[in-house]
Amino acid sequence: MIRDQFKRPLRDLRISVTDRCNFRCGYCMPGDRTYRFLPRAELLTFEEIARLTRLFVHHGVRKLRLTGGEPLLRRDLHELVAQLAAIDGVEDLALTTNGSHLARQARALKEAGLHRVTVSLDSLQSDRFQKLVGKTADPGSVVAAIDAALAVGLKVKVNTVVQKGVNDDELVDLAGFFRGRGLEIRFIEFMDVGTLNGWKLDRVTTAEEIRDRIHQVFPNDPVPPRVAGETARRYRYRDGSGSFGVIASVTQPFCGGCNRARLSARGSLFTCLFATRGIDFRDMLRSGASDDELSERLAAIWRGRDDRYSELRAAGGPVPDRRREAPSDDDVTSDKVEMYYIGG
Ligand code: GTP
Ligand code: 5AD
Ligand code: SF4
Ligand code: SF4
Repeated sequence: MIRDQFKRPLRDLRISVTDRCNFRCGYCMPGDRTYRFLPRAELLTFEEIARLTRLFVHHGVRKLRLTGGEPLLRRDLHELVAQLAAIDGVEDLALTTNGSHLARQARALKEAGLHRVTVSLDSLQSDRFQKLVGKTADPGSVVAAIDAALAVGLKVKVNTVVQKGVNDDELVDLAGFFRGRGLEIRFIEFMDVGTLNGWKLDRVTTAEEIRDRIHQVFPNDPVPPRVAGETARRYRYRDGSGSFGVIASVTQPFCGGCNRARLSARGSLFTCLFATRGIDFRDMLRSGASDDELSERLAAIWRGRDDRYSELRAAGGPVPDRRREAPSDDDVTSDKVEMYYIGG
């Protein structure tokens, strides 16, 4: 097993399959901009993704998550799911989605071997939802997609990014709505990912506040973590109607147990959500590198990894800027990588 500079193993691989999205959430892809999406030939093929994934699994990855952009915009995604599900050693295969194309694809995804989906939903109010996602869309259709996923036997989580003054007044409504439905909602502190979302600390509703507000209406108790490196702190309702989670990336960072690697749609490896650049694997893949060569490179990168951005930011210290150190690569953004590019 390989470990990084802080002795963290590699367990979790998050694979972005497209940078495109049909929504325009303000904290991710503000609607007032035009985006230059990657041409199709720039994206890793399913075979390339599966090949790299096998090497990651060889080095310890047990958990896979497909993400985007919106991963369900990638044609025939269920075929990739089938290839990944067939890899020996994969224990958990999940997908992050905005829910807009899920109802239609849920059965094919389940049949291909997907275990679970995480659906993003920040509001149950139609007008607010539309403003948040920058599109004429109905939160009811996202709820219907969640029900469709449950109906075909997928496990479901809901992710809600909480922005103070935007949707924090809906915490209790959202918790109440999903309580007793056999799924867990997780409230996420609004993070300073990317460069486009106008992040300010005063727009963060803290995890503590989130839990307190829910506790006043639906009393609950903390649940001990199940595995090391979990993002969410979990709370169980005292009346037995299930649990919810809070992801405190800003106020209680969890870099200490971070075992997550991220592969971008064009085949670059990011060792942190806040990295300023990725390390390209696509050129190597396409210029005839052997599995051993790819595998050694991957191991060397993980062994050298010393990222802990959220902890450094929380401690108020300087946050390293690696732009000058990294090899040349097209994934350079003006600053940190954007969320729609790496998929959260
Ligand atoms: P589960 O396996 O279902 O627990 O999923 P997860 O929490 O590992 O992944 P998910 O994509 O649901 O993560 C939810 C949110 O947590 C993301 O959208 C991010 O906002 C945040 N998050 C996830 N991983 C990281 C991470 O490595 N660093 C930071 N800072 N935030 C993260
Ligand atoms: N802070 C916290 N979570 C975010 N996400 C996107 N941008 C942010 C941010 N700035 C979440 C989305 C989705 C996942 C892919 O990442 O809501 O649940
Ligand atoms: Fe699309 Fe998700 Fe980004 Fe919203 S947060 S614009 S749904 S990729
Ligand atoms: Fe991992 Fe980077 Fe997030 Fe810390 S900030 S938990 S190192 S991805």
